[in-house]
Amino acid sequence: MKSTEQDSNSSTLTNRQGHPISDNQNIRTIGNRGPSTLENYHFIEKISHFDRERIPERVVHARGAGAHGYFEAYGTVGGEPVSKYTRAKLFQEKGKRTPVFVRFSTVVHGGHSPETLRDPRGFATKFYTEDGNWDLVGNNLKIFFIRDPLKFPDMVHAFRPDPVTNLSNPERMFDFVSNSPEATHMITFLFSPWGIPANYRQMQGSGVNTYKWVNSGGEAVLVKYHWEPVKVEIKNLTQAEAEQIQGKHTSHATQDLYEAIERGEYPEWELCVQIISDDEHTELDFDPLDPTKLWDHEKFPFLPVGKMVLDRNPENYFAEVEQVAFGTGVLVDGLDFSDDKLLQGRTFSYSDTQRYRVGTNYLQLPINAPRTHVATNQRDGQMAYHVDRGAGQNPHVNYEPSSLGGLKEAAPSGKEHEPAYNDKLVRQKIDRTNDFGQAGDTYRKFENWERDELIANLVNALKVCHPVIQRKMIEHFTNADADYGRRVAEGLASAGGQAGTSDSNREGAAAAAKSGQRTDGY
Ligand code: HEM
Repeated sequence: MKSTEQDSNSSTLTNRQGHPISDNQNIRTIGNRGPSTLENYHFIEKISHFDRERIPERVVHARGAGAHGYFEAYGTVGGEPVSKYTRAKLFQEKGKRTPVFVRFSTVVHGGHSPETLRDPRGFATKFYTEDGNWDLVGNNLKIFFIRDPLKFPDMVHAFRPDPVTNLSNPERMFDFVSNSPEATHMITFLFSPWGIPANYRQMQGSGVNTYKWVNSGGEAVLVKYHWEPVKVEIKNLTQAEAEQIQGKHTSHATQDLYEAIERGEYPEWELCVQIISDDEHTELDFDPLDPTKLWDHEKFPFLPVGKMVLDRNPENYFAEVEQVAFGTGVLVDGLDFSDDKLLQGRTFSYSDTQRYRVGTNYLQLPINAPRTHVATNQRDGQMAYHVDRGAGQNPHVNYEPSSLGGLKEAAPSGKEHEPAYNDKLVRQKIDRTNDFGQAGDTYRKFENWERDELIANLVNALKVCHPVIQRKMIEHFTNADADYGRRVAEGLASAGGQAGTSDSNREGAAAAAKSGQRTDGY
């Protein structure tokens, strides 16, 4: 990134007006005991800038670390030229490099919270392509808790500390989750060791939502994106391992990333896509647009399209990692949205929050600005740093269309992708919700130690929850897999959890789970 600080041959301290400062220790006062005077320009500038050093934290994903690097395309996908599926320029040519900036994060807690918490990890990548920026805003886990964006603010509130006590309490999270059965699959991952990646280098990434690729003929396919780490193993932590690290260090993942890059051990991932035709796929028992579902990679193989290497640490954490702004709407030609509702909700939310968090002109900051031609008729606003004017543009014409030397629309780069719609406007769930099937598959695919950890972590969290919540959760787990539900119920019983303090309670819970009936009232 280009530094916005002026290089200077002199190490003389100045203020921001360029005035040399000869005394940075004493404010001006009437006599050396005070009082002070109001014209202390240097002091007032210094303290008032300090007073404004913080901007609002990200409302989620506040805790993060980042690095620069590059993406290198393979030019093919599954043995075919990539142009068969997408015209996006960054993928076309074997060996073509595109600069990137990546920010990793945790989700729920604040900017200095420990990096050992059980939480999804963010994995957001900004590609500075010749066609403008592309942001792939993903997580380490391949699925999500919910499928409708209307539920996102409630979900985040439930996962956060109590608004009265400011204390974290799993009852809040499980209250929401037990009433949102679509979260069962994500909870199964989150409470297993997959909920605490060992660091940022040894984890996967995924775009989670379904997107489209569009070729030069305007034809689309559905795609999911995945980052697979190379040269290192994927590594997750048990709860006990995480607690041990947390006892000594709250920034272990930031440190690991920074130091690996300083040592020249550059983290690397391969970008893979899963591709399916752009239709409803009624042969599947789930909807391919549903972000709570995996696309089985035995059926839909991971096809590598390029690799990413992170080889440079930020020079300024605030200017780069804190002010970087990613969004799911930031796509380049040849990439498109799918009809996934969650994706569409996200696409509004990101730039909305960034206009508030960073400011109206956040796209003029060096970390966010495209490294290509930018020419708009958008003007002014807080902290406008320059005018996004075209090279030959008449400076008086800040509107379009015009015959007086204003900006002109670009020529189309290919045939437009024009999906057709004919349906009622409704508020409805999708048809193929299948909330538990894949949660059960995932449970059965875990290794024994992962299943043991999952059960222990769930029991530990659920034992402080209200019995009605415990029972609903046991019901969901049983719907996923009978053994899963039974083990959580038994674990709660022997932990003296409220649902299982006596044998009759335990049987009651198991019976409730089996029959899908609740055994108590509110
Ligand atoms: C950050 C909204 C779902 C990944 C954010 C931010 C918002 C947000 C407002 C803060 C952005 C900023 O301040 O710059 C939403 C909404 C969602 C949703 C409304 C669902 C309706 C997801 C999902 C994923 C995800 C499914 C994973 C694929 C991320 C990441 C960041 C983030 C990685 C941090 C980006 C960074 O490092 O700056 N999200 N999100 N979000 N979100 Fe989401």
